[in-house]
Amino acid sequence: MTDVRMTAVREAAEAMRSWAPGFAPETLVVLGSGLGSVVERMRLSAEKPFAALPGFAPPAVAGHEGRFLLGELAGRRAIAMMGRLHLYEGHPVEQIVLPVRAAALLGCRVLLATNAAGGIRDGLRPGQPMLVTDHLNLLGVNPLSGPNLDDLGVRFPVMAEAYSRRLLDLAREVAAEQGVELEEGVYAAVAGPSYETPAEVRALRLLGADAVGMSTVPEVIAARHAGMEVAALSLVTNVAADVAHGHEEVLAAAGTGAPVLAALLTAIIERL
Ligand code: HPA
Repeated sequence: MTDVRMTAVREAAEAMRSWAPGFAPETLVVLGSGLGSVVERMRLSAEKPFAALPGFAPPAVAGHEGRFLLGELAGRRAIAMMGRLHLYEGHPVEQIVLPVRAAALLGCRVLLATNAAGGIRDGLRPGQPMLVTDHLNLLGVNPLSGPNLDDLGVRFPVMAEAYSRRLLDLAREVAAEQGVELEEGVYAAVAGPSYETPAEVRALRLLGADAVGMSTVPEVIAARHAGMEVAALSLVTNVAADVAHGHEEVLAAAGTGAPVLAALLTAIIERL
């Protein structure tokens, strides 16, 4: 019996395929809050709003709509997501990971994810990029809950090296060449949307988190399940529990730090 969720993934993949017939993507890039400028130099084959993907964001979502860009980025055929869905918006976690699974079916072997994050480790300052070496899934949900989608991956996927050693090394190499101080650390994903209390930040620090955010981990888990190689870069936009002006502050800081992240990502993609 075909799982309805697998049917949804196949339909999403077919829709993406129809946007750019013959285009065989190699890499999925997910761009977080304020980080859209990373794809400014992409040579586009297709551009679609999130609502164009069947089973994804409901078309009623107005305002700042996310988009899928298909095309060539730093010499690679890529699907770039400008924005993503978040749990705090009320989307089920399966919907959040739908594009990752569709991209995997289309042949993407690599997921490069970016996000804005609050710094927890002492010394992590706004504007600094951080290479995610591991994560804490504190979202309270897992995208692999429910009957396993055997056509994508195994029931109990290993997460010991969720973030590929090869890509970690590549990111370090590229940062060194660019003279960029690339921090490294553990990204804790929390559900949000409220920012953390000081007590929560202390607790997260005790748990081993270096930075905290409200995204990325569902996509990473789904990508690993589907056998993709993963790397993630956070941009520290604020010191956690010290967000005086909330989301606007985070977006502004992300916009400021985006060029550094863009340069890193571009060079990584070139050498994948
Ligand atoms: N907490 C959670 N998510 C975030 C933060 C934060 O401080 N900054 C950017 N995303």
